[in-house]
Order: sequence, then structure tokens, then C-alpha cells
Amino acid sequence: MTLFWMHLRKDIKKMTKIIFATGNAGKMREIRDIMADLDVELLSMKEAGIKLDIVEDGKTFEENALIKARAVSKEAPGAIVMADDSGLEVDYLNKEPGVYSARYMGEDTSYTIKNQAILDRLKGVPKEKRTARFVCAIAAAMPNGDVLVTRETIEGYIGEKPAGSNGFGYDPIFYVDEFGCSTAELTEKQKNQISHRGKALRAMKEKLNQYGI
Ligand code: IMP
Repeated sequence: MTLFWMHLRKDIKKMTKIIFATGNAGKMREIRDIMADLDVELLSMKEAGIKLDIVEDGKTFEENALIKARAVSKEAPGAIVMADDSGLEVDYLNKEPGVYSARYMGEDTSYTIKNQAILDRLKGVPKEKRTARFVCAIAAAMPNGDVLVTRETIEGYIGEKPAGSNGFGYDPIFYVDEFGCSTAELTEKQKNQISHRGKALRAMKEKLNQYGI
């Protein structure tokens, strides 16, 4: 292929715009890192100039991710819009807080209180019954109306006490056997390698690759 055609193909690919429907800077860092080798323009919702209040009333992580992706997609014709939804499932608590993870005990309640409440509800429960997972679903609304969805988990258990100050949310009480510590004790890089979101993003990247992106 001549240099001219190679450049032209690269320019056409660069015209593919992916908007990630989040206002969270940490998520944007992670997605930029994972999607770095895709030849696309990757924008946050803010960078794309889109401001929307979306009601996440789905019953599953997949439904909520799709609701967000579809809502933003209406504002961004021609772009691929990706959105995620994630949360913690504690088996002993019938998979609570699940899709209500952010809203558990109220959106404004601190995670110190939320985490302590989960520890209290598991008081005296042995380790083998403390199994839990973080779940992440990612949806991509394609410009032609197609949708792609991925869902991945990281398996672990709820520890006896909070530990660590990295990460966010339920990280201090979520322990992984692989590292023998909570995910709040992992570096961002270590967590991204094993996390539900990292895995779901990499799975989505493969689906996009199959789509020719
Ligand atoms: P969202 O997907 O940004 O709506 O996140 C939902 C909620 O799930 C967060 O507010 C946290 O409470 C929880 N969550 C999701 N992923 C993680 C994680 O990696 N660590 C800790 N908490 C998480």
C-alpha cells in the first residue's frame, strides 16, 4: 500500500468517535489506557459537550448500561456511545446491594457507613459464606442502531474489617484471594488488570475489533 493510502485509511479510522458516558475521571483514565491502541477519537461526555440527567431504572447492570448508552447516543449521531454500570453483589445478602450499590442507604451516605453496615450484616458469618463480586456491564450503542454488551466480574469476599485507602466505594471491604488483601490496598494498575471494569472494557474492545474498529 502506498504511503498516501495508508495515511488516508488512518484518517478515516480516526474519524470514528467513541463517547464514554461518564463524568468520572478515574473511569476515563482506565478506558483511555485500555483503548489506547484503537485508532479512534475517545471523548468523555463533557468533552463531547453533552449534559444529561439519566434515570437508571433498569433491573440489571446490562439494562442500566444500555439505558445510558442509548440516551447519550440520541445526542451524538454518528458516534459510538459506550456506557457502563457496575456494583457489588454479596451472596449472603441475596446479591445486595447490586444495581443499587451507589444508592444503598442513600446516595449521600458515606462509604465508611455503608461499608460498616455490610460488615455488621455479615457479623459472625464464616469466610466461605462471605463470597461477593464486583460486576461491570458495558454497552455500546453503534451509529446504525446495533448494540454490543459485555459483562464481567471479579470474584472475592467481604473481609472482617475495612483495609486500604486506594480505590473508592466498597473497595476497603472487598478482598481478593489472589492478592490476599482488599482491592483498596492494590495500586490502580494492579486493580485495573483484574477488575470487573478492566475485563469488561477489554471484552468490549474485542467486540469493536470484530466490528472492524
Ligand atoms: P457506577 O457504575 O459508577 O454507577 O457505580 C456503582 C457503584 O458500585 C459505585 O458507586 C460503587 O458503590 C460500586 N462500585 C462499582 N465498582 C466498584 C469498584 O471497583 N470498587 C468499589 N466500589 C465499586
